Amino acid sequence: MARVFSGVQPTGNLHLGNYLGALTQFVELQEENECIYCVVDMHSITVPQDPKLLKEHIKDIAALYLAVGVDPKKSIVFAQSDVSGHAELGWILMCNAYTGELSRMTQFKQKAQGKESAPAGLFSYPVLMAADILLYDTDIVPVGNDQKQHIELTRDLAIRVNGKYGEDTFVVPDGRFLKEGARIMALDDPTSKMSKSAPNELSRISLLDDASKIKKAIMKSTTDSEGVIRFDIKEKPGVSNLLNIYSALSGKSVEDLVKSYEGQGYGNLKKDLVEVVVNAIAPIQERYNQIRQTQELVDILNDGAERANAIAEKTMARVKDHFGLGL
Ligand code: AMP
Ligand code: TRP
Repeated sequence: MARVFSGVQPTGNLHLGNYLGALTQFVELQEENECIYCVVDMHSITVPQDPKLLKEHIKDIAALYLAVGVDPKKSIVFAQSDVSGHAELGWILMCNAYTGELSRMTQFKQKAQGKESAPAGLFSYPVLMAADILLYDTDIVPVGNDQKQHIELTRDLAIRVNGKYGEDTFVVPDGRFLKEGARIMALDDPTSKMSKSAPNELSRISLLDDASKIKKAIMKSTTDSEGVIRFDIKEKPGVSNLLNIYSALSGKSVEDLVKSYEGQGYGNLKKDLVEVVVNAIAPIQERYNQIRQTQELVDILNDGAERANAIAEKTMARVKDHFGLGL
């Protein structure tokens, strides 16, 4: 069995992009692998967070993991800060990462854009991510394409440390990226990615949105003036994005959808998509509401942290030994 690790930040609700890009893979992978799914709260404090809200968001994301079908009997689900090995290994890796390579990370460049100075944590964010992954001898990391550069850095760090401190120090992981179609774009601006942080609420559909918000976002979504439903990311990013979402949630191919909407306007496509999205999300919301406020959720996270820690402790003992740290 291969070991799988992935993480999602507890910053607000998850949206359709997170769901189709990451969470559906999480559920598929748990059938044949040993999966560890983490709520990466330590990553989220690289930008300021309200402590009370952060605590709630950690549980929100954990409950969403479970609601989409992550099974705590098969997979480990936990909060990153409950296992101290992440920070500990993060430091060791930091001493082997270079400021040059970190300053080339596009996510850092975007987040620090225009600022004269940025938190050091924002700069070293990818090193903590590498620690998350290497701490569990991970083989496979399912993530969105936007994380490719961070996975490459993780591999570079593992190979570099192995070269210096012994080939059996770290398992070198592989990323498992999405198909191009799984990149979900913003509804108001289909040339940029659907994201948690965009100021316009109608740019995204969150997994906890009600039907009227979903309807509003889809009916108002940006398309084009051609009036023909066809798939063409370059010329028709808006319509193509709607087709992608429709296809991913309904299981129908984009090709079949295009055929079935021949001669129809965007209004029909949008109206049907509202129904498809609402129906796909309803069972997730139902399960979320069942578990979110329960002691069961807390128990699952505590149990997950314990199981994660058992694996992490072994890795830390080995790594410290290879580095000559401690007695
Ligand atoms: P984030 O929301 O940036 O914490 O991302 C959590 C996971 O969802 C990562 O694996 C991302 O790559 C993935 N993801 C985020 N936004 C999108 C999107 N618009 N389309 C597809 N995947 C996404
Ligand atoms: N950086 C990832 C993101 O923004 C989240 C993350 C942190 C992660 N640690 C990870 C993803 C380890 C996969 C594995 O989406």
